[in-house]
Amino acid sequence: MSRRVLVLNGPNLGRLGSREPEKYGTQDYAALVEFCHKAGREAGLEVEVRQSDHEGELVGWLHEAADEGLPVVLNPAAFTHYSIALRDAVAQRTAPLIEVHLTNVAARESFRQVDVITAVATGVIAGLGFEGYRAALLAIARL
Ligand code: DQA
Repeated sequence: MSRRVLVLNGPNLGRLGSREPEKYGTQDYAALVEFCHKAGREAGLEVEVRQSDHEGELVGWLHEAADEGLPVVLNPAAFTHYSIALRDAVAQRTAPLIEVHLTNVAARESFRQVDVITAVATGVIAGLGFEGYRAALLAIARL
């Protein structure tokens, strides 16, 4: 039986492909979903990919993961930099949670260098584009 994993994506990630393609690439959100499903299958995981522009919905999904003991790959998007609500939800995790960013946030604007999530995550991967999601899923499969 393969292990279930949630891949959760925050605001504006549903607009991949058309959103600032010079930063986030030309592949759209559907391509990211397909990429994660394939990477999950390769790692022996059953991956469910979700996206929301709403903080409360993401908090609810993190509660669900905590209650069900599910590992999570989380790209909190802009919430990374200021959502204490999301951080407090991540802190309740009962399984590994890997924070992922498509871009290298440490090399961008100073406001993106504040990250309120990392301290309560298992680890963080940034700057590898879609490959970061594969690396996170492989790590979860081995942890
Ligand atoms: C992001 C980086 C964030 O700073 C930004 O707000 C995003 C995407 C990334 O994947 O590189 O929306 O999390």
